[in-house]
Amino acid sequence: MPYARYPSLLDRVVFITGGGSGIGAAMVEAFAAQKANVAFVDIAVEPSKDLVAKIGASGPAPLFLHCDLADIAALEAAMEEVRQRLGPIGVLINNAANDQRQDVDGTSEEDWDRAMALNLKHQFFAAQIARRSMRELGGGAIVNFSSTAWMVGNARMSVYSAAKAAVVGLTKSLAREFGPDNIRVNAIAPGAVITERQRRLWMSEKDIADFRARQCLDRSLLAEDVARLALFLAADDSAMITKQCFLVDGGLR
Ligand SMILES: NC(=O)c1ccc[n+]([C@@H]2O[C@H](COP(=O)([O-])OP(=O)(O)OC[C@H]3O[C@@H](n4cnc5c(N)ncnc54)[C@H](O)[C@@H]3O)[C@@H](O)[C@H]2O)c1
Repeated sequence: MPYARYPSLLDRVVFITGGGSGIGAAMVEAFAAQKANVAFVDIAVEPSKDLVAKIGASGPAPLFLHCDLADIAALEAAMEEVRQRLGPIGVLINNAANDQRQDVDGTSEEDWDRAMALNLKHQFFAAQIARRSMRELGGGAIVNFSSTAWMVGNARMSVYSAAKAAVVGLTKSLAREFGPDNIRVNAIAPGAVITERQRRLWMSEKDIADFRARQCLDRSLLAEDVARLALFLAADDSAMITKQCFLVDGGLR
């Protein structure tokens, strides 16, 4: 199914974290198809370069910068480089995460800090940095990534769930504080999205069938299903929508 066309995204500078694979890669492709000016950061170099080449074969290639989001100074440098090379950032997609499973007894203080750094902290600082560009532009849109994991209550995901629940609180507070600058802040909470990584690490064919059975809709959720909502929330079509968390889960929850 082709993506809807959003004229307001034409030439808009879109910064996506963790765009090299999974849902992030689907969003890089979806925004590139809108002829937005797309930049993304990731630690996974090969998949990111492959994605740039794939998109570049049929249109303008997105800009990929290697950046470990655990390093906030590196994130700031990457966002500044994007601003210099492409212009002020009008859309920020805070997508990157790490859903490492870990039981409570095996979790150290260091594990907790790392999980918070990879699933929550960079979203706050990326928003702080993007706000400068968005003020210059007279507005902008930020989309943070939460998860239905914390709403459902999954074992071995306590720190990840805590971070993803916090993303909703972060979204609401940022939306209030950034509203006077005409910057909208929303969150997306995906359900069980069947990405290549999920298949490889966490989901058996039986798990995938079980998720389908628990959804209202009898089809596996794909990264593209999530990208469609990200486009809408980034575009001016959602101009009066802010401070919300939207579920894309096929009715799982
Ligand atoms: N896939 C799902 O079923 C699902 C469900 C609920 C929520 N989500 C959320 O949706 C978003 C995308 O999910 P996904 O499944 O595509 O995730 P993923 O783990 O497959 O991809 C995340 C991307 O972020 C990159 N990344 C990880 N750590 C990084 C770091 N330190 N610095 C820079 N980049 C880093 C990875 O290389 C990868 O390309 C995440 O926020 C995730 O929590 C996903």
